[in-house]
Amino acid sequence: MRLTDCHNIADFRRLAKQRLPWPVFDYIDGAADDELTKARNTSAFDECDLVPEVLAGVGAIDPSLSILGRRSALPLILSPTALQRVFHWQGERAVARAAEKFGLWFGISSLATVSIEEIGSLVSTPKMFQLYVHKDKGLNRSMIARCKAAKFDCITLTVDTIVSGKRERCMRSGFTSPPKFTPSSALSYAIKPRWALDYVLREKFALPNLDTHVSAGTGEAVSIADYFNTMLDPTMTWATAEAIRQEWGGSFCLKGIVSARDARRAVEIGADAIMVSNHGGRQLDGSRAPFDALREIVDAVGGEIEIICDGGIRRGTHVLKALGAGADCASGGRLYLYALAAAGQAGVERALTLLKDEIERGMKLMGVTTPQQLDRERLRWR
Ligand SMILES: Cc1cc2nc3c(=O)[nH]c(=O)nc-3n(C[C@H](O)[C@H](O)[C@H](O)COP(=O)(O)O)c2cc1C
Repeated sequence: MRLTDCHNIADFRRLAKQRLPWPVFDYIDGAADDELTKARNTSAFDECDLVPEVLAGVGAIDPSLSILGRRSALPLILSPTALQRVFHWQGERAVARAAEKFGLWFGISSLATVSIEEIGSLVSTPKMFQLYVHKDKGLNRSMIARCKAAKFDCITLTVDTIVSGKRERCMRSGFTSPPKFTPSSALSYAIKPRWALDYVLREKFALPNLDTHVSAGTGEAVSIADYFNTMLDPTMTWATAEAIRQEWGGSFCLKGIVSARDARRAVEIGADAIMVSNHGGRQLDGSRAPFDALREIVDAVGGEIEIICDGGIRRGTHVLKALGAGADCASGGRLYLYALAAAGQAGVERALTLLKDEIERGMKLMGVTTPQQLDRERLRWR
C-alpha cells in the first residue's frame, strides 16, 4: 500500500499500521479499557442524517471561518497530540507546516518533541499550546512564559487527564516514551526497519518543553501513565484553571468538557472556548461522545463561548454534522496522526487535501455556501 492508495482516513490508518512497530501504532490507535468511547465518538455521527436542500446556487462556497479571533480556512483544528517524533521523524514540524499550508489552527502538546520556541518561529499559522497542570508550579509558569514569548495564539488547558486512563494496549506492549528496546519489544521494532533506522539515525528524541524540569524529558524511558500519574497535579480545580487563564492573559480554551454544567463553569471563569472532548476515548471509557454531548452544551452556553467538537471526526460530513449541531468548529487528532505516521508531511498534506475536498463537496451537496448556514434544521436524528 502506498500514499497514493489512501483515499480516506481509514486508508491512512491501514498504511500507518503497515509502517509502524505495533507498540507505536497501538499507542496512537488505542484508547482506554474496552475502547467503547473511542468507537462511540465516531459512530455517534452515524445516528444523525444530513438533510440536503437543492438548487441553492453553490457555484462559489467559502468554508472558512473565524475561530478564537483568527481566520481558519476550514472549520477544522488539528488537535494537540504528544510524542509526534516517535510516529514519524518529521514529527510536529510536519504537522505545523501542513497546517500552515492549509491555513489551519493546530496545537502542540506539553509532551511535544519540538520546542515551543521553534514552533513559534517556524510557522505563522494560528497555534495553540496544550498545557497540563504539573505539580511543579515552576514548570507551569515557565511554559506559560515561553508561550507568551513565542507568541502562541491560545493556551488550551486539558482538564480530563487528572489521572491516566487505563490504556490496555500500552500495558500489553510496554510502550514507553522514549521507546525502550527490550528483548521482548525488539522484534516489533526489528520487523519495521525503515521506522527503526529513521528513529535511531535521525534527530534524537527529546521533550524540550519538559526537560529542564522533569525526568520525563531527560531521555529516561517512562510510560505515559507514569508521567500522568506522577507529574500531573490531581488537586487542580476551577480556581487553578482561572488562575492559569489570568496568568496567561490571552485566548484560553478548556479541553475535555462533556457536561453542560462544566461548560457553564468555563464561561464563568472567562474561558474563550471549550473543546467538547473525551481525549479521543483515551481517558474515561464509557464517557459521553462529543457529538452526543454537543446539543445540550450548545443549548447551555452557545454564543457565550466558542465550542469546538473534538474527537471521532474521520470524514468531512462529520465536520458538517458537528457544525449543524451548533459547534463553532471541529477538531481531531488521529485524522492527521495516521497520515503523519504513514508518510510524514506529505501524508498530513494528503489527509488535509482529502478532508478539505470532503468538506467542500459536502457543503455543495447540502446546498450551503458558508459553514454558518448549517443548523439543526439541516439534521435529523434517527
Ligand atoms: C496519540 C495521541 C496523543 C495525544 N496526546 C494528547 C496530549 O498530549 N494532550 C492532549 O490534551 N490531548 C492529547 N490527545 C487527544 C487529542 O488532542 C484529541 O482530543 C483526540 O485525538 C480526539 O480524538 P480523535 O483522535 O478521534 O480525533 C492525544 C490523542 C492521541 C490519539
